[in-house]
Amino acid sequence: LQTLQALSETRAAIGPVVLIVMDGYGLSKTGAGSAIAAANKPTLDRLFAEYPHVQLRAHGRAVGMPSDDDMGNSEVGHNALGAGQVYAQGAALVANSIASGELWQGQAWQEIVAFAKAGTGRIHFMGLLSDGNVHSHIDHLKAMVLRAKQEGIRSVRVHALIDGRDVPETSALDYVLPFEALLAELSTDGFDARIASGGGRQTITMDRYDANWPMVERGWKTHVLGQGQQFASAAAAIEGLRAQHPGVIDQDLPEFVIAENGRPVGTIEDGDAVVLFNFRGDRALEITRAFEEGAGFDKFERRRCPKVAFAGMLQYDGDLKLPARFLVAPPAIKNTSGEWFSKMGISQFACSETQKFGHVTYFWNGNRSGKFEGETYLEVPSDVVPFEQRPWMKAAEIADAMIEALQSGRHKLLRCNFANGDMVGHTGNFRAATMAVEAVDLALGRLLKAVDAAGGVALITADHGNADEMFELDKKTGQPALNKDGSPKAKTAHTLNPVPLILYQNIPGLKLGLKQTPEAGLSNVAATTAHLLGYEKHPDWDESLLTLKG
Ligand code: 3PG
Ligand code: CO
Repeated sequence: LQTLQALSETRAAIGPVVLIVMDGYGLSKTGAGSAIAAANKPTLDRLFAEYPHVQLRAHGRAVGMPSDDDMGNSEVGHNALGAGQVYAQGAALVANSIASGELWQGQAWQEIVAFAKAGTGRIHFMGLLSDGNVHSHIDHLKAMVLRAKQEGIRSVRVHALIDGRDVPETSALDYVLPFEALLAELSTDGFDARIASGGGRQTITMDRYDANWPMVERGWKTHVLGQGQQFASAAAAIEGLRAQHPGVIDQDLPEFVIAENGRPVGTIEDGDAVVLFNFRGDRALEITRAFEEGAGFDKFERRRCPKVAFAGMLQYDGDLKLPARFLVAPPAIKNTSGEWFSKMGISQFACSETQKFGHVTYFWNGNRSGKFEGETYLEVPSDVVPFEQRPWMKAAEIADAMIEALQSGRHKLLRCNFANGDMVGHTGNFRAATMAVEAVDLALGRLLKAVDAAGGVALITADHGNADEMFELDKKTGQPALNKDGSPKAKTAHTLNPVPLILYQNIPGLKLGLKQTPEAGLSNVAATTAHLLGYEKHPDWDESLLTLKG
């Protein structure tokens, strides 16, 4: 409070406040396998040497995940940053709803079952087949298949997106083999369950933020129309495709269709029900639109639009109400910082490139695609390439846009996301990831000069780790785990490491610091920002970490 009072007195002294999210930038304890440690990053080195900084928790329960073994991800990270609060997130909500049986009693599940029974007797489950717990969890799928059998559904078809991005990069068979065995075991008493189609999650279906609709079109052709290279089972498809495309990791595998005697076993037809079992929205919205939209849908030619009952695991967009039918209610994220600052009359600017644009807008505002008054959004179009080929991504252009917005003097609060550490981190390419970090460092250096010129303050943070561990680490030694040929095992997923919060400002006479609390996490950033702006935080938010120094 003392801080607040003092700050409101100096409010006039503080220019714009700039929030910078370096996506996928975690703090590794040892530097083993860290592309960040290996990168040449003079600006970041200077920040850590000369400016106040603390560590924030960015994984597990600190961001609303079911357990502290769960890594963080961009959705929960940006929700916490933007809302200043921690909510039980999709992963936890779905697991609880299944455990309590609430999901089965819900209207959406009952409608799905009733529709299928009145129609063809078949339910399709589509989604990411892994236990990554970022977009989905295979246990949720298993529970639904079992329940469908108990409810007297005759046939189940699974459309499996292959992961290797939230889980080890070539782990597909660890999921597919036991899962196909389980489906075979369940296929008794007139019940018949199989995987019907699939493909790498970066190849089909799971595009986000309108970056690459042709990906979704390929998914539609695969899952709905049954067009694609045919195999006898998903395990055979993965083995066959790996042999055809040596070195291609799971997330990039081509699409496949399971067939018998040349006929796909599970195209989607009139009278079927379809459940999209991903709980996270960014990569679920486009395929949802393809199923739900009427004749006005113009993103690609669907050829055939089966009359199905469609449900998502959650509602993915609270403003657009997509999808209309959902199995579990999403977290009711309210009193976000975007809304609160808007009510204060603070003009806000948000910018990123396509791949992370929704992170600083839609996730930031609690999974709502709408805008609050006084918010200005700017999207820099991302390249549509594998990012190890362009590790600099759009860091320079985002910095340009932020500098221009700062110089315009129109905004009191500006936020941006540099995607590089995360998007390149996910490719598992160490060298590209060091270049990604260097590109961010370069952009940051320019942006911070503009912050100084505007008499402003910057908070530099991240949503979760990624580039800080590019190799799988041996649990005992902490050193990189090795492949048979002695090379380090690439890691594509996020990490469990904390992230930095750095306070940058060079305003003459203004001495500010940050306090490290044991519980400090991403949800403390909103209140810290409020105090920098000279305002009280919303009562729902976690506390500010700002201190006034002597
Ligand atoms: C993805 O969707 O790319 C990954 O599953 C998670 O990455 P993100 O949480 O950083 O977006
Ligand atoms: Co990521």
